[in-house]
Amino acid sequence: MADQQSPPPGPDLSQGVALSDFSGTMLLGHVGDEEVLLVRSGSEIFAVDAHCSHYHGPLADGLVDGESIRCPWHHACFDLRSGEAARAPAFNSLSVWNVEREGMQIFVRQKREQPKPRVKGAVDAPSRIVIVGGGAAGFAAAEMLRRQDYRGSIVMLSGEKAAPVDRPNLSKDYLAGNAPEDWLPLRPADFYAEAGIDLRLGTEVASIDSKAKKVLLAGGQAVAFDRLLLATGAEPVRLPIPGADQPHVHLLRTLDDCRAIIASADGAQRAVVIGASFIGLEVAASLRARNIEVHVVGLEQRPMERVLGAEMGDFVRALHEEHGVVFHLGDTVTSIEGKRATLKSGGALQADVVVVGVGVRPRLALAERAGLAVDRGIKVDAYLQTSASDIFAAGDIARWPDPHSRENIRVEHWVVAERQGQAAARNMLGQREAFDAVPFFWSQHYDVPINYVGHAEKWDEIDIDGNIGAKDCLVKYKSDGRVLAVASIYRDVASLEAELAMERAVA
Ligand SMILES: Cc1cc2nc3c(=O)[nH]c(=O)nc-3n(C[C@H](O)[C@H](O)[C@H](O)COP(=O)(O)OP(=O)(O)OC[C@H]3O[C@@H](n4cnc5c(N)ncnc54)[C@H](O)[C@@H]3O)c2cc1C
Ligand code: FES
Repeated sequence: MADQQSPPPGPDLSQGVALSDFSGTMLLGHVGDEEVLLVRSGSEIFAVDAHCSHYHGPLADGLVDGESIRCPWHHACFDLRSGEAARAPAFNSLSVWNVEREGMQIFVRQKREQPKPRVKGAVDAPSRIVIVGGGAAGFAAAEMLRRQDYRGSIVMLSGEKAAPVDRPNLSKDYLAGNAPEDWLPLRPADFYAEAGIDLRLGTEVASIDSKAKKVLLAGGQAVAFDRLLLATGAEPVRLPIPGADQPHVHLLRTLDDCRAIIASADGAQRAVVIGASFIGLEVAASLRARNIEVHVVGLEQRPMERVLGAEMGDFVRALHEEHGVVFHLGDTVTSIEGKRATLKSGGALQADVVVVGVGVRPRLALAERAGLAVDRGIKVDAYLQTSASDIFAAGDIARWPDPHSRENIRVEHWVVAERQGQAAARNMLGQREAFDAVPFFWSQHYDVPINYVGHAEKWDEIDIDGNIGAKDCLVKYKSDGRVLAVASIYRDVASLEAELAMERAVA
């Protein structure tokens, strides 16, 4: 929706545009006060909402590939014919508009009735699907099962008190105080009952009996399954130091954790963030937005060097310093006595609030006890199937054969978890779809988004196009001349093109 002061952009498509005025792939216009994007694909022209249904990214700045369009911000992908959100992180369809041709003019006047997503027909079997986990992968799987017209039962068991939330927001706008809490739920509360998803919150699964095909809840109750999806995610590593159990010392994974940090931050003057990880630094940025003095203590000499390389690491450090963050690198906190955090190097920092962001561990205990094959993650095949054929795994816990890096990898990325949840859902219905999505993550520091496609645990060359300091760059991580991963700042189309090139290389 355009804001009231500024007129909607581009031509009024209801008045028609000459075909000769639409020479490129996309043309942004409007119908009434709604922004509509015309997209050319081969000989056809489609008209869809101009903004992504995830965070309203401008699709006109995205990439068209055949009959699909990809969002420049977090790489959601929409089908142009049906509007369906084909790939996470978007779940809601785009509206699709009728395109009428009259002579050499195109008119867009009316939205089409939302077509049903293309599915293979109603599916009744397996009749009982149980999902352990109410996070990214668990939610995406449940939503996709119903989108596929699966009519059997879905029980979703989540240890959290809140229904699935937009977890990445917990270290960004919500923590910074820039997003209201009602932005966080992935779907409104009544979605689950309406979709026939039996979501049981605050429910801990104690064990899995893979032979008898049931999960046992901590309260002793059993829930039977025909197919089981494990999506138990990861848990933050706790620091084994004196004072880490005080109420103003926090980890961050759940909405409750985030609310507790916000409560401690209220009236705080100085925060100590332990760990210069992605989450640690996003928390630092959000606490600076609350005008709290922030000290980041990290073992590494350069933040994010292991993932992004030295140049990006230096940039990230300088960016945070510009915003007033004070770094204590090559150092750690050895104890927290009340509001005093003692540094290993000597000295101490005042710490009205402490956030520990020193990494996460995949939650593998259920799988290990059930005898599933585990190797620094639950081992799954290309179909996300574990060593037990009725049990699938997705998200932060899954180590899968990634065709792009040609390695078995496990990552901790929101979009990967959601896309694996979607693929696992289809595979639990028997579709045999290999999971071959290119890994993608984003991170946000102040006004600077960093997008990353691919996966490079090590590289022998970094190729920088543009200028990192000027926040305009494409950084390629190469091994033996092959591009394994690409990080970018404000080079969204190039990032999407890199993703597409990696997909095509494997296809
Ligand atoms: C603050 C924060 C910010 C982040 N920002 C980004 C970002 O910007 N970009 C990005 O790519 N990634 C980001 N991530 C990482 C991303 O959120 C994870 O990769 C993603 O959530 C993994 O999804 P998942 O479904 O595997 O696990 P989760 O989302 O963690 O969900 C796991 C679920 O399993 C439940 N569970 C676990 N064990 C049991 C049990 N025994 N019984 C019942 N339920 C159980 C948990 O309660 C939880 O509901 C962020 C993570 C955090 C914490
Ligand atoms: S805004 Fe489009 S994917 Fe996030």
